[in-house]
Amino acid sequence: MALWGGRFQGGSSQMFRQVNDSLPFDQILASQDIRGSIIWSRAIARAGVLSDEEQARMERALKGLLVRAEAGELDFAGSQEEDIHSFVEAALIDELGDLARKLHTGRSRNDQVATDFRLWVKEHCAQLQQDLRQLHRSLVKSAERHQQVILPGYTHLQRAQPLRYPHWCLAYVEMFKRDMGRLDDLMRRMDQCPLGSGALAGTTYAIDRQEIAEQLGFASPCLNSLDAVSDRDYVLELLFCASTSMMHLSRMAEDMIFFNSGEAGFLRLGDQVTSGSSLMPQKKNPDALELIRGKCGRVFGSLQGLLVTMKGLPLAYNKDMQEDKEGAFDAVNQWHICLMIACEVVDSVELDAARCAQAAQQGYANATELADYLVGKGVPFRTAHDISGQVVLAALAEGKAIEELPLEQLRGFSDLIEEDVYQVLQLEYLVDKRNVLGGTGKAPVTAALQQELASIDIKQNP
Ligand code: ARG
Repeated sequence: MALWGGRFQGGSSQMFRQVNDSLPFDQILASQDIRGSIIWSRAIARAGVLSDEEQARMERALKGLLVRAEAGELDFAGSQEEDIHSFVEAALIDELGDLARKLHTGRSRNDQVATDFRLWVKEHCAQLQQDLRQLHRSLVKSAERHQQVILPGYTHLQRAQPLRYPHWCLAYVEMFKRDMGRLDDLMRRMDQCPLGSGALAGTTYAIDRQEIAEQLGFASPCLNSLDAVSDRDYVLELLFCASTSMMHLSRMAEDMIFFNSGEAGFLRLGDQVTSGSSLMPQKKNPDALELIRGKCGRVFGSLQGLLVTMKGLPLAYNKDMQEDKEGAFDAVNQWHICLMIACEVVDSVELDAARCAQAAQQGYANATELADYLVGKGVPFRTAHDISGQVVLAALAEGKAIEELPLEQLRGFSDLIEEDVYQVLQLEYLVDKRNVLGGTGKAPVTAALQQELASIDIKQNP
């Protein structure tokens, strides 16, 4: 039976129920709803609405429901209830009869759903932090396994300057650390409890909101009842965190899809994260990475969808806000899945060091080095850039690398060029010269890697 039947003479239409009922998706909030109800029963008992004996019976029954909810034993499919709040109340009435009808005293589904959803978001932030830590670990371990590999770095997808592979890994580590930081910020900001705000204006019962907040694990109560029931910023922020992190995952996926292509051939992916073609027997496709890239669409869509839903809503609660859930549940699930599969992909990667080095050597990645060599001999950089460009043009015409041109020919472009230029043009030399903090040289990369290795040890084996 609906929670609001008294004022109505006719029932709801089938079509109305289809658009209105949220139980098919908000059943996910069962355990949060029951835990909130336990704490609420304590609060109203303190306010004199329930005797201690009544509260104890109610708490016992709710705890029984909680056990069944966590074991997945509640029968949502067979229920006619509108949403998870009515479902829990109806289940309690089944068990306790009239006593259960006292539970909703002073409470509204508006503060109830806001509390349930906050609890759910908090719990999932913690789970996602753990997922991000796992990916952090996978990337750092991959960097450690392939410390010596040098591969081409790109701008405009044109070979630009060579990089150490760990430098590439640690670039993504920085992004995922920021994602963790964003979740930290969100968790701190949203750590306020709406329960006790009533429908919109607060409640007349003498409840202790501070105590309710503490018992539900929040740092403090929300300070304004109107805002408490209307606010969905924490869902939007979570969706922004998910979107940004999915964007990072997608860029990493795109890099790896390219590295894995026949043209680049820098890395091989494990069988466990790839699939074949039904027609072309030779194919091994990077499906896991493509799906990470592909799933960004729906996650970004959920963020956009909720922003649009919220933007025209007058205070306080409006039923539009029921649309906050499905997109968020899906986005969090997809983000979690993508983080986990990204770990598997990174763990499965095997690098072809020779192929990476060969590609890094080609493409005139050492042209900047030649210019810098001339700068070292007193040539202004702009002039040196021009000379080096002419050398590249001549080498291109002969289909050779710069270092394959004989000294005599190089001296034709500048007589400041001497035998020592060949050492400067070598791959390792030019990579390791980038020794500035944050650069790709061996020293800064090793230092950064050691730091990350220490941090995963601290975080994961405290
Ligand atoms: N199912 C609703 C939601 O998810 C619960 C709140 C209903 N409140 C109300 N006044 N009808 O938003």
